[in-house]
Amino acid sequence: MVKVKSAAQIQAMREGGKILRDLFIKLNDFIKPGVTTNDINKFSHRFIVSRGGKPSCLGYEGFPASICASVNDVVVHGIPDDTVLKDGDIIGVDVCVYYKGMHTDAARTYLVGNVSEEIKRLVKITEEAFFEGIKHIKEGSRVGDIGHQVQTFVESNGYTVVRELQGHGVGCDLHEEPGIPNFGVAGTGEFLKAGMTIAVEPMVNMGSRHVTISRQDGWTVRTKDGKPSSHFENTLLITKDGVEILTM
Ligand code: MF3
Ligand code: CO
Repeated sequence: MVKVKSAAQIQAMREGGKILRDLFIKLNDFIKPGVTTNDINKFSHRFIVSRGGKPSCLGYEGFPASICASVNDVVVHGIPDDTVLKDGDIIGVDVCVYYKGMHTDAARTYLVGNVSEEIKRLVKITEEAFFEGIKHIKEGSRVGDIGHQVQTFVESNGYTVVRELQGHGVGCDLHEEPGIPNFGVAGTGEFLKAGMTIAVEPMVNMGSRHVTISRQDGWTVRTKDGKPSSHFENTLLITKDGVEILTM
């Protein structure tokens, strides 16, 4: 069942979203060569708790950390560890906050030190793909409209979209219906209603779209060809005439 949120629930998500926005600004300075993904996890955990929130990822289906930290060829769901970030890396940081009974979900991909122009472009196109995907979305739009826009934009720029993972409804639970694929056909799929809250999250690969899941930890999703991948995500509210982004 697709849930429409109440005014109070939406307000709680705005406030939770502000925690994420502020965290991502702080991480801009915190993330640099020499920092470990554990350091980023600890910093993020403390920040969320200091603002009265809870990291929704911690313990979610057994996930062992407060954030996902996905370096270079890791697409999503990387588990923070003692990996030291080095000049030229990229790292996707995916964070979910539980605040006043509601979840919000967002991700950024950060550049570590001096990153090649080629990889910078991948990160930039991924962010732009998110905005392309939601550009004309409002009440009455359909899920396939988002996927179609994201896919068309990404592929016309020479990259590929991951198909095994997708965006999702979010709010009362971390993952709600409907699923929001980053590919598809315009004019198909679930209709979007004002008051729905969804996470839109393009995952864009430099090489082929194919991915593998780590057999060691059951979480880490990597590109099959070892080429870099970038992720950008926000939680948004569907309104009568557009969307309100709740996490930036
Ligand atoms: N934003 C991630 C997702 O939608 C949340 C992952 S939490 C985790 O898949 F616990 F699964 F890592
Ligand atoms: Co998500």
